[in-house]
Amino acid sequence: MNILVTGGTGYIGSHTVIELLKLDHNIIIADNFSNSKPGVLNLIREISGKEFKFYQVDILDRENLEKVFINNSIDAVIHFAGLKAVGESVAMPVAYYHNNITSTLVLCDLMNKYDVKNMVFSSSATVYGMNNISPLTEDLPLSTTNPYGSTKMMIEQILQDVYISDNGWSTALLRYFNPIGAHESGKIGEDPNGIPNNLMPYITQVAVGKRDQLSIFGSDYDTHDGTGVRDYIHVVDLARGHVKAVEYIADKTGVEAINLGAGKGYSVLDVVNNFQKANEIKIPYVLTDRRPGDIATCYADAGKAEKLLGWKAEKTLEDMCRDSWRWQSKNPNGYE
Ligand code: NAD
Ligand code: UFG
Repeated sequence: MNILVTGGTGYIGSHTVIELLKLDHNIIIADNFSNSKPGVLNLIREISGKEFKFYQVDILDRENLEKVFINNSIDAVIHFAGLKAVGESVAMPVAYYHNNITSTLVLCDLMNKYDVKNMVFSSSATVYGMNNISPLTEDLPLSTTNPYGSTKMMIEQILQDVYISDNGWSTALLRYFNPIGAHESGKIGEDPNGIPNNLMPYITQVAVGKRDQLSIFGSDYDTHDGTGVRDYIHVVDLARGHVKAVEYIADKTGVEAINLGAGKGYSVLDVVNNFQKANEIKIPYVLTDRRPGDIATCYADAGKAEKLLGWKAEKTLEDMCRDSWRWQSKNPNGYE
């Protein structure tokens, strides 16, 4: 298949492109490098041993994005491009709504014009909000607590409406749980800007000596050890889920929301302990107050992905800890 991957130089996109290239799909990446580095392109070539096309383009820029559709015969789009920092979205809602939603509208409009009607969209478990009880199934009511989450929920709605207007569309709304880990080569991984918000990049930065200690946000949750429980999924498993999803939507029509999680919950302390054991490194930590907006427990019912896509997460928490550390230790300053 000829697959346009928006946001294909980002964390999840780059790992997904590698898995798609392995299966000899033809890849066209469109990214504006707003949260990624040009160096990723050669690393993808190095790891995969394959070629692909790249366009440095903002998905908001209809005129330049249209050239990508004019110059390539595209069968499907995997749409990763978007801004993703929850706190930043609270501070800059207009930028988040504009970048995430307007770009998706531009993309859908061009897809309609060039008769490309297969889309895999990066949604998030954040659309399940604060009130649903885990394991989370795809049919639960959705709600959000911040502009980032609202962009995901609204885009899901937009893509449902696009299908209602034209039953030729085939769309997968993939709701990711907590992606961590890195490619096992240690050449590509997650490279957050500034102080990491998320748990695993914070732990690896403590391990590499960039931060003194981890703050564990809350130790009085109703969980097995009092710390927050999440569904961590290895980014390479997640990438393989996209390969299955893009193949799944190819020969049918409709819209399916599908959880991509491991279906297992681990606490913050479970992750810290696993990281220490897998890598033989001590992670100093302090127990602090809960982080506003966090819930006690969030993990997927991963049954629908297995049933529809024949996909389930295979890598263990230990794999995730080892691979995250390999990436960070080989690249203490990320892609710089
Ligand atoms: P990322 O920031 O590493 O990748 C996103 C990529 O999109 C970046 O390369 C960025 O430069 C590009 N981009 C952003 N806006 C663009 C625009 N207007 N035009 C062109 N390119 C643009 O993020 P990621 O972790 O790889 O996430 C990919 C997608 O998955 C995002 O939509 C994100 O919201 C979603 N998601 C991520 C997580 C997570 O924890 N990482 C969880 C759930 C959902
Ligand atoms: N945590 C700490 N210390 C830290 C960072 C995180 O204790 O320095 C804890 C959090 O309180 C939480 C767990 O580690 O219990 C995981 O936190 P992350 O920030 O890594 O992940 P979240 O589950 O909070 O958020 C993720 C994505 C969001 C998405 C959300 C819901 O980062 O984009 O899942 O699916 F919206």
